[in-house]
Amino acid sequence: MTDPGQEGRRSSTGRRPPPSEPGRTRPSPLAEFDGTCPSPFAEFDGTCPSPFAEFDLTRPSLSAELDPRPPSPLVELDDPRLARAGVRVILKRDDLIHPLLPGNKWRKLKYNLARAAELGHETLLTFGGAYSNHVRAVAAAGARFGFRTVGVIRGEEHLPLNDVLAFAADSGMRLVYLDRTTYRAKGTAPVVEALRRRFGRFYLLPEGGSNEQAVRGCAELPGEIDVPFDVVCCPVGTGGTLAGIAAGLAPGRRALGFSVLRGARFLADDVARLQEVTYGEVSANWTIDHDFHAGGYARRAPELDAFVDDFAHRHGMSLDRIYVAKMMWGVFTLAERGALPGNTTIVAVVTGAMEAASS
Ligand SMILES: Cc1ncc(COP(=O)(O)O)c(C=O)c1O
Repeated sequence: MTDPGQEGRRSSTGRRPPPSEPGRTRPSPLAEFDGTCPSPFAEFDGTCPSPFAEFDLTRPSLSAELDPRPPSPLVELDDPRLARAGVRVILKRDDLIHPLLPGNKWRKLKYNLARAAELGHETLLTFGGAYSNHVRAVAAAGARFGFRTVGVIRGEEHLPLNDVLAFAADSGMRLVYLDRTTYRAKGTAPVVEALRRRFGRFYLLPEGGSNEQAVRGCAELPGEIDVPFDVVCCPVGTGGTLAGIAAGLAPGRRALGFSVLRGARFLADDVARLQEVTYGEVSANWTIDHDFHAGGYARRAPELDAFVDDFAHRHGMSLDRIYVAKMMWGVFTLAERGALPGNTTIVAVVTGAMEAASS
C-alpha cells in the first residue's frame, strides 16, 4: 500500500515513480494534518513549500482519448420475470466505456477535464467520502492526463487506507481530511479560500463531480441509444447523472432515477438546480424513486444481496451494490409488481464498474 504522503515526480505517462526515485524522500504532506492545529485550516498560511513542486505536467491529448468514443454497448436482458411482466430491459453498458473512468465518471469528467485544461489549470481538487468512486476517478484522470490532484476527504484518516484511497494515493493524489463539520461547509468561500491558500490555483470539482459540465456530458447518453425505448433508468447519488440524462431525452421519453440514499427528498431540488444552472430550465420528464436504498448509502439489505446473487447467477454480472444493484433491484421489483406499464422498454444505465466477480 502506498503512503498518501509520499509524493514523487510523474513520468510523461503520468505514473508515479518507483520507491527508489528521489521524490519519495520528501516528508509526508500529511504531517501538517497531524491533529495539533486548532483548526483544520490553521496551517493553510502559505508558508509550507508547494506540495507539488516535483510534478511534471506532461499532458497526453485529452480530446484524442476522451472524445469521440464509440457508444457503450446495449445488451438486452433475457429474463422470464421481465417477459411475464411484458417489460423489456436493455442495459446500457457504460461500465465498458473507459478502463480508468468507467460509467458516469467518464461522462461527468470529460467536459470538466477539457475545461480545466482550457483554463490553464494544473491542479484538480475535489471532495468525497472515503469510498468515493468519484475521488478514485479524479485521481485516475489526473494521473492519466497530467493534472495534479487533491482529494479532500470527509472525516478522519484511517490507516491502512482502504482500496479506493490507496488507489488514489498511488495515482499521486494528495489526500487531506476535513472533520465532518468543516466538510459540510466545503462549498463556502472561507473553506475554498483556505484550500486555495494551501494548494494554489485549482479547478474545483464538487462532490460526486456533479456540475454543469457533468450534466452536459451525461446529456449525451440518450443520443447513443439507437433502438426504440420509453424510459431510461439510473441510480441517483448527487443527481448529476439523472439531470443530464433527462435533459438529453427526446420528447415523449422519461427518466427514472433510483435514490441510493435514505429519505433524500432533497435530491429532486438538486437535480432541478443542476438542470437550471446548465440549461436555464428544468425538464418535467424525470422522477426519483426513493424505495430501493436498502437502508441508506452503501447499506446492504438481505433482499438486495439476494437480488445481486441471483442476478449474477442468471446473467453472469456482479452488480455494484452501492449504485447499480439498487437501480436494478428497483426495476425488477417494479416490473414484477406490475407497477410499470406492459410493453415498456427500459434502458437501464450501468453507471459504474462491476464488482469483482465472486461467482
Ligand atoms: C457507479 C455510480 N453510479 C451512479 C452514481 C450516481 O451519480 P450521481 O451522483 O450523478 O447521481 C455514482 C456517483 O457518482 C456512481 O459512482
